[in-house]
Amino acid sequence: MAAAARLLELRPGRDMTAVVIDGKTVSQKIRAECRGRVKGLQETHGVTPCLAVILIGDSHASQVYVRNKMRAAEDVGLLSRPFIFDRDVPVAIVLDLIDRLNQDPDVHGILVQLPLPPQFNIYTVLHRISPAKDVDGFHLYNVGGLVVGDTIFSPCTPFGVMKLLEHQGIEIAGQNVVVVGASNIVGKPMALMMMQQDATVTICHARTRDLAQFTILADILIVAAGVPGLILKQMVRRGAVVIDVGINRLPSGKIVGDVDFEGVSEKASFITPVPGGVGPMTVSMLIWNTITSAERHMTMHPV
Ligand code: GUN
Repeated sequence: MAAAARLLELRPGRDMTAVVIDGKTVSQKIRAECRGRVKGLQETHGVTPCLAVILIGDSHASQVYVRNKMRAAEDVGLLSRPFIFDRDVPVAIVLDLIDRLNQDPDVHGILVQLPLPPQFNIYTVLHRISPAKDVDGFHLYNVGGLVVGDTIFSPCTPFGVMKLLEHQGIEIAGQNVVVVGASNIVGKPMALMMMQQDATVTICHARTRDLAQFTILADILIVAAGVPGLILKQMVRRGAVVIDVGINRLPSGKIVGDVDFEGVSEKASFITPVPGGVGPMTVSMLIWNTITSAERHMTMHPV
């Protein structure tokens, strides 16, 4: 943003009402694009992309997530193969399954739903998946690829945030981006993807002192802290783009993000709601990555 325009933005004045970014609509557009890509693969190569999903244990939340992922995959024409294990399954059984799925030319994406029971070392499992089928983008190869700007698969939630901004026509190069939350799944990859697009990036986390001194500088504020109501109106610059990745269930049962939506909407230029903002994008990007994997497979990309 030009300095003069920015000064105008910062002048005390009337509040604005943010445009609410509709993740459901963008997600539907992406799924329509995915349907076209699946059709193209079927017509050109006679291949239907296939996602293998491994679920271990009886966590209700994980069961719901996995069901949603498989349903969404099938809805755009993908095949899905579920592998469900009791929580006390021996580690070797799961590693052996991953080895077989890595070798299976009919499987294009492998996802192990997290968290895992205590007998598993999460990295032993995630790093066993071939980077070429790691559609979650959690393998070290893909994480390292993000650092140098040459990844095969980007993690689905931050990838979804990038797509939301792109669909909304929000420029990233040269912007001050502040990411609140430094998890391996969202915050860290988000920061790397923003750096790759020439943003100036700050990462804040649970031990950051005086969070507001950083958030107030953000042209684009991305919050993935898992703390309901963490970001208040006075912590946000007028005209900022605010992306809320948080999904928190209040004791009342209501689902809310990390941002005080009502207050911050009066000051931001764009804001994502919870639910209905980033959430629907995550599954869409998983499908996107699985199709990309099948397309790469067809063009014989080596890893
Ligand atoms: N558990 C919570 N989020 C995720 C995710 O994005 N991928 C996997 N595999 N497990 C999760």
